[in-house]
Amino acid sequence: MRAASLVVRSVRNLTDAELVLPARGIALLGPNGHGKTNLLEALAYPVLFRSLRGARDREVARFGGPGFHVGLVREDGLAIAVTWDAAGGRKRVTIDGADCPRITDALGHWLAVAFLPTDLALVQGGAAERRRWLDRMLSLAHPAYLGALLRYRAAVAQRNAALRRHDGPSAAAFDGVLAASGAAVLRHRLDWVATAGGAWREALDGLGEPLPVELRYRGASELVEPAAWEAALAAQRERDLARGQTHVGPHRDDLALGLGGHSLRRYGSTGQHRTAAIGLRLLEHATLQAARETTPALLVDDVFAELDAARQDRLARRLGAMDAQLVVTAPREADLPDALEVARWHVRDGTIRQG
Ligand SMILES: Nc1ncnc2c1ncn2[C@@H]1O[C@H](COP(=O)(O)OP(=O)(O)OP(=O)(O)O)[C@@H](O)[C@H]1O
Ligand SMILES: [Mg+2]
Repeated sequence: MRAASLVVRSVRNLTDAELVLPARGIALLGPNGHGKTNLLEALAYPVLFRSLRGARDREVARFGGPGFHVGLVREDGLAIAVTWDAAGGRKRVTIDGADCPRITDALGHWLAVAFLPTDLALVQGGAAERRRWLDRMLSLAHPAYLGALLRYRAAVAQRNAALRRHDGPSAAAFDGVLAASGAAVLRHRLDWVATAGGAWREALDGLGEPLPVELRYRGASELVEPAAWEAALAAQRERDLARGQTHVGPHRDDLALGLGGHSLRRYGSTGQHRTAAIGLRLLEHATLQAARETTPALLVDDVFAELDAARQDRLARRLGAMDAQLVVTAPREADLPDALEVARWHVRDGTIRQG
């Protein structure tokens, strides 16, 4: 899956533009603060119809502007467009010109995996970081996962609201939907973990990490059976009521990451954390590619500079071999490994110079 063109209007500091993207991709060079990540944010916006930095739509819109517009045409001609209007705070998504009132129906038409400097948090941060990553990835990979996740989140929220009112019977009314949707969420996650560990190890081996990595699911995996929920919920009912929250279920789970038999988070070096995080993004790419039977684009934001020369070179070769459209950013040409064979573009004060 490749983007043939991208239209940006009133996005951050970017000058309004219609960019024709080479099939292999580009390296975008430019000084700090001139708009490199902003372009990646625009390219990634039609993946989940939200900012890849987790920013609010208001922040994506140019200061003082009317909102923003991103239009992406795939190489097969499919057009995805999104307009956010600041006055009404509304988002309009169209696919080939037809309105798509539910954003969940628009997912999957454009797939890209972003490698960000902030990805270190996937390894160094708390469980919530890894759950968010897992949920976004599996939601894009499997529409059924997104459906189950949304039902589950709604059930947890409503159940917690009843618990905070100390209304046990109303809270218990959500136990059935909690069990059904929670078991479905867990089933998808466990199925994914069953093969993900091997793929992650293989990715890191390819990046030159000599120690073996392990990826395990941390949570009550017996809850994959809806029938197991009744007893688990009963055992926590007092605590749930006392604290006003649900203590059972996949919204509390984590992925345990290991390196050479020890906790990667506690014992790994910063460079190992960085490499492991890149490996997680490669795993995300492989997951989406397998589930959607198409090759997502790769958006790589200033990630090379933090790696030693050998890892840089291995990553560049790996990315090059994936046959994906590749958009890489770096402040200077010297920050890019020689093995990266894509056209060089430049950005200055938000204006992109092609070729
Ligand atoms: N909503 C906005 N409207 C206008 N300009 C904005 C908006 N949000 C951010 N900017 C500007 O965008 C610039 C940052 O762009 P960006 O994050 O793409 O930089 P970058 O080229 O990736 O830099 P670095 O190399 O430091 O990562 C800053 O000058 C900032 O003031
Ligand atoms: Mg940047």
